Amino acid sequence: MTRPLIAANWKMNGDLALAEAVIAGLAEGGGGGVDVLLCPPFVYLREVARMVRQAKVTGLAVGAQNLDYHAHGAFTGEVSAAMIADAGCEYVIVGHSERRALFGESDDDVARKAQAARGAGLAAVVCVGETFAEREAGRTEAVVESQLAPLAGFFADSDGGDFAAAYEPVWAIGSGQSATPGDARAVHEFIRRRIADHNPAAASRARVIYGGSVKPGNAAGLFAEPGIDGALVGGASLAARDFLSIIRSGYAD
Ligand code: 13P
Repeated sequence: MTRPLIAANWKMNGDLALAEAVIAGLAEGGGGGVDVLLCPPFVYLREVARMVRQAKVTGLAVGAQNLDYHAHGAFTGEVSAAMIADAGCEYVIVGHSERRALFGESDDDVARKAQAARGAGLAAVVCVGETFAEREAGRTEAVVESQLAPLAGFFADSDGGDFAAAYEPVWAIGSGQSATPGDARAVHEFIRRRIADHNPAAASRARVIYGGSVKPGNAAGLFAEPGIDGALVGGASLAARDFLSIIRSGYAD
């Protein structure tokens, strides 16, 4: 595994003052041996990328929360991968469950977005995960497998450094109820095996990170599990202190 990745998905929250507080905290204390990713709303990307460059914190990067897979055109309100790269981003989140549930993104859309990200030199953070009903029905692996299926070609062509998979059980997002470290680990292992079906080298190199109610109090337990290579943090990334505490709660230098 390369360095762990701890990512902040601000969703439609946050402001430049939050970015400043997180970056200042990292510049003071460092993030240890961890890559840290800030994903603010589109309008803040260029300025946060500038702040990050200026801070010169090793392993700190900026990403968008979504992209449109078209290169350009009459798609009012949308933003392309090349535009995101031009704003100074290195990453982009694709397939977040909120995009799937609220904006109708399909598994095929997610695969197109991942390809578009790669085309612009961005690393895709590809999100998958089951709903509560799907978990209760014992369908977690089947659901994750079908979400990953259209990404077969994307994985086949990967060097493992141009994406991270994020396991985000929908029922754990914003609920305060994280998956247990053991349950998360089992799904992470499953995800890595499915990627390995297409590309064993990329599967062993790629990061599989966990998202869903990661907090300062439960991060260390999750990070202690082999195969949990970091976190995608929503609510707790909106308080600089909490996010910094998560960053420092595992993965010794
Ligand atoms: P919470 O950390 O608020 O549960 O959100 C997780 C998430 O959706 C990150 O993408």
